[in-house]
Amino acid sequence: MIQETIVTTHNNEGQTHIAPMGIHVAGDEFIILPFRPSVTLDNILETKTAVINYTDDVRIFAGCVTGRYEWPLKKAKKIDGHFLEGTLAHCEVKLTHVDDDPVRPKLFCQSVHRVNHSAFKGFNRAQLSVLEAAILLSRINRLSSAKIHTELEYLHIGFNKTAGPKEREAWDWITKAIEQKLREL
Ligand SMILES: Cc1cc2nc3c(=O)[nH]c(=O)nc-3n(C[C@H](O)[C@H](O)[C@H](O)COP(=O)(O)O)c2cc1C
Repeated sequence: MIQETIVTTHNNEGQTHIAPMGIHVAGDEFIILPFRPSVTLDNILETKTAVINYTDDVRIFAGCVTGRYEWPLKKAKKIDGHFLEGTLAHCEVKLTHVDDDPVRPKLFCQSVHRVNHSAFKGFNRAQLSVLEAAILLSRINRLSSAKIHTELEYLHIGFNKTAGPKEREAWDWITKAIEQKLREL
């Protein structure tokens, strides 16, 4: 099973990095799979720790893929590092081993501390649409503009029926960034 999460990491200078990552979950073990090159990969190899954030604020996913990295953080409890303020839950993990690969290494991590901050509020179609649009943006160089527009049109149906202000802000950031990139290609 893959969970779409926000991974917070830091380097030895204490600089925090935030990135959306699809995490493979197998019981208490997590596998983080960053494509090289990746700051997340470098930081986890350097500090042997990470925080997995479960958030329904899709602006953070949209923000990270459109260059908006300034999100409020709080100090983690059992490891050095930070979790996202406002996250529904977070899990502090330690790196146990690495399955190295020139394209996409597998980082096996073990949970050392989990906290539930707030209840899951149910599924929301607009949030799904924003995540899918964020993925389209991250793959823009590999997809035709016709395919991107067809997919966005479909995603917009569920989005328009169910979005709140956060989802609308996130959708706006992503669709503007997609149009900008398509003009530059
Ligand atoms: C929902 C979602 C899931 C993603 N999952 C991954 C992933 O599993 N691995 C990856 O390398 N990038 C993934 N990305 C793209 C990264 O977040 C993005 O490329 C980021 O800049 C990673 O590089 P970094 O570690 O240098 O920040 C995902 C993006 C989104 C929107």
